[in-house]
Amino acid sequence: MIRHFLDLDALDAEALKGLLDQALSLKQTRLFPDALRGKTVAMIFEKPSTRTRFSFEKAIHDLGGQAIVVNKNDMQLGRGETVADTARVLSRYVDAIIARTIAHQTLLDLKEHASVPVINALSNHSHPCQILADLLTVHEAFGPLTHPRITWIGDPNNVFFSWLQACLILKFPLTLSCPPSLFRDDLKKQFDQNPLLTWEEDPKKASSGAHVVMTDTWVSMGCENPEAQTRLLTPYQINDDVMKRADKDAIFLHCLPAVRGQEVTDAVMDGPQSKIFDQAENRLHAQRALLLWCLQTPKA
Ligand code: CP
Ligand code: NVA
Repeated sequence: MIRHFLDLDALDAEALKGLLDQALSLKQTRLFPDALRGKTVAMIFEKPSTRTRFSFEKAIHDLGGQAIVVNKNDMQLGRGETVADTARVLSRYVDAIIARTIAHQTLLDLKEHASVPVINALSNHSHPCQILADLLTVHEAFGPLTHPRITWIGDPNNVFFSWLQACLILKFPLTLSCPPSLFRDDLKKQFDQNPLLTWEEDPKKASSGAHVVMTDTWVSMGCENPEAQTRLLTPYQINDDVMKRADKDAIFLHCLPAVRGQEVTDAVMDGPQSKIFDQAENRLHAQRALLLWCLQTPKA
């Protein structure tokens, strides 16, 4: 069976915890197996990236493999070659395909037609690799994944969706704080059905007692109306007033890149509760373990 990683629900709770344990062990020992020796990984980007690109390329190198990184517009894909044909051709050359896509459907099409693992490096729908790093950061802050109270304040976007999946898999309570107009019907339905999920319009109430306070940019790549989105979310800035209502040991997370002074103040970004650079570093550690999960042949 090919181990694709399009969303976090590719892993159950046990597999997810196992992957995080392995990530932490690799981080601590720095003893990397050369499990990717002789293997090549294609990385396709339809959108810009700093963390995902560098951390994956380094992780592949650490495990003895090599990466081929290509912007979509430098491929025939950018001139209209189908995703299906691209998937079939790349599967003849490489051992895995990592792709950052505008539409999640492109990842589903790659998965359908590739005969090697496909990894989601962010789509409009989700960003599961980011949440592996976030969970590792939470684990380091609070110990082996107990049940931290997670609060997301801002746009319920692709990164939020992957956090929602993580909380459902690991049974963490999750509070979302956003304007009512961004609390979409599909989210409402899930929140109504699950007692672990709470929506709270007021960001200060939402952060009350939280162990992890999180946000992301208000304007994701491809956002069609950045000004309106920014106006709508202005009351949802994470600042000292929001943070002081959280648990005294609470941490602040942001997947980055941030718009400082917009969704979060400099004081919070650079303050003692902020773990944003550990979180960014953990992309590398989490993705080493993910590559091993996708590419190491499981023992019979
Ligand atoms: N957090 C994240 O995915 O960053 P990049 O867009 O820089 O890869
Ligand atoms: N939500 C952001 C995440 C960037 C890493 C975006 O999609 O642009």
